[in-house]
Amino acid sequence: MVSKPGILITNGRIIDPCSGYDGNGDLLINNGTIVARETHIEKESLSDVIIVDAGGLIVCPGFIDLHCHLREPGFEYKETISTGTRAAARGGFTTLCSMPNTEPAIDNVAVVDYIRAKTVEDGVVRVWPIGCVTKGRKGYELSEMEELAIAGVVAFSDDGDPVWDSNIMRLALAYSKDLDLPISNHCQDHTLSKGGVMGEGSVSTRLGLPGIPAAAEEAMVARDIALAELTGGKLHVAHLSTAGSVALVREAKNRGLSITAEVCPHHLLLTDERVLTPYDDINGMSPNDSYDTSTKVYPPLRTSNDVRALIDGLNDGVIDCIATDHAPHDIASKQVTYEEASFGISVLETAVGSLCQLVYSGQLSLSTLIDRLTVGPAKVLGAQFDAYKSLEPNTAADLVLIDPDKEWTVDSELFVSKGRNTPLNGATLRGLVQMTIVDGEIVYQCPDVGGKE
Ligand code: DOR
Repeated sequence: MVSKPGILITNGRIIDPCSGYDGNGDLLINNGTIVARETHIEKESLSDVIIVDAGGLIVCPGFIDLHCHLREPGFEYKETISTGTRAAARGGFTTLCSMPNTEPAIDNVAVVDYIRAKTVEDGVVRVWPIGCVTKGRKGYELSEMEELAIAGVVAFSDDGDPVWDSNIMRLALAYSKDLDLPISNHCQDHTLSKGGVMGEGSVSTRLGLPGIPAAAEEAMVARDIALAELTGGKLHVAHLSTAGSVALVREAKNRGLSITAEVCPHHLLLTDERVLTPYDDINGMSPNDSYDTSTKVYPPLRTSNDVRALIDGLNDGVIDCIATDHAPHDIASKQVTYEEASFGISVLETAVGSLCQLVYSGQLSLSTLIDRLTVGPAKVLGAQFDAYKSLEPNTAADLVLIDPDKEWTVDSELFVSKGRNTPLNGATLRGLVQMTIVDGEIVYQCPDVGGKE
């Protein structure tokens, strides 16, 4: 085995929500593992180490994204494992769970093996495939869940589509209990959402666009909670977007059900108003126009009331984690009318900068934000992710260095991701990833690391 050079990270503000540590200090990495975390580590005593001056930077565990679309195999013109993992590294994510709406779908062992092999060949961060709940994601027949579990999937989902058949969902949840892997459901009652392209409300009416009522999501969240109670299965509710969904999950958790839930950065920061007007609360004037298809996402952007409820839910732990739902698309899928455009936002490279706005506006503490990007998703995924969620000695050296004060302007042309579809293009954000380390190797370094402008 070839040994990796050690890395000494000095003078950083280490924030490790898992152990409750928040203080200045040094970290020593050797051969892929954090071997020491101390207020000061004497560099003169070390040989063959790369020294990284993290003065003024936050040092925290690398982010775990339990919901993203890497598009490979099948849609390599939208994203590949190579570009998606590099975009992740640029965004501070060290572990990705990739959704199975690929072609072929991840419903058999060969595709799982393919993704794992491709990750070894082309990837720069860890990638864990999520297997389909149903064959071909069609909703009619359960996939071979046990075979997929043995092959290494970390969850099951038909994401992009819901598991609409209640009996299939019941069976899947029953198996999830035995397999000890979550079912991440994209909750959407098609009979209510069919034809809709944005959140239903006054804005959709004004724009003349078909809306998707909040009830389309909430009806299925309520169904899934009932089925989780019936089966004792491991339910994870993907991308919550409405106040009603937060209330349902809160009530279920209060009753002792061990379900989990996620929220996406765009649902925490943008509202449906952004489809109507180039003005938005966070970034002021944006260069984009009304009917900007980069705002089209599923679930859709909703109202400020929903945003407030999602932030409250994130704060009080009803929502366990933030997941990106990174959904890169090619230009042709977005340079069409709003109704024809594909759903999805390219998120990996803007997540940290946009989420930091919640910290600066006093709506979320920094340690809660980091917790929901590290400890939260690791909890959903289970014990095998424990090694990646903290900066304690003897854990995996997956970490990220962030300049919390750095202002930068989003330029989607500079994205590493093939997906340039972001409603934040042109926005000025504060908070930028400076370095990402996976398994003790520097996989991304911002040109100005170590210093501040
Ligand atoms: O906006 C979305 N895009 N929501 C999904 O659920 C699927 C995703 C995609 O695959 O493009």
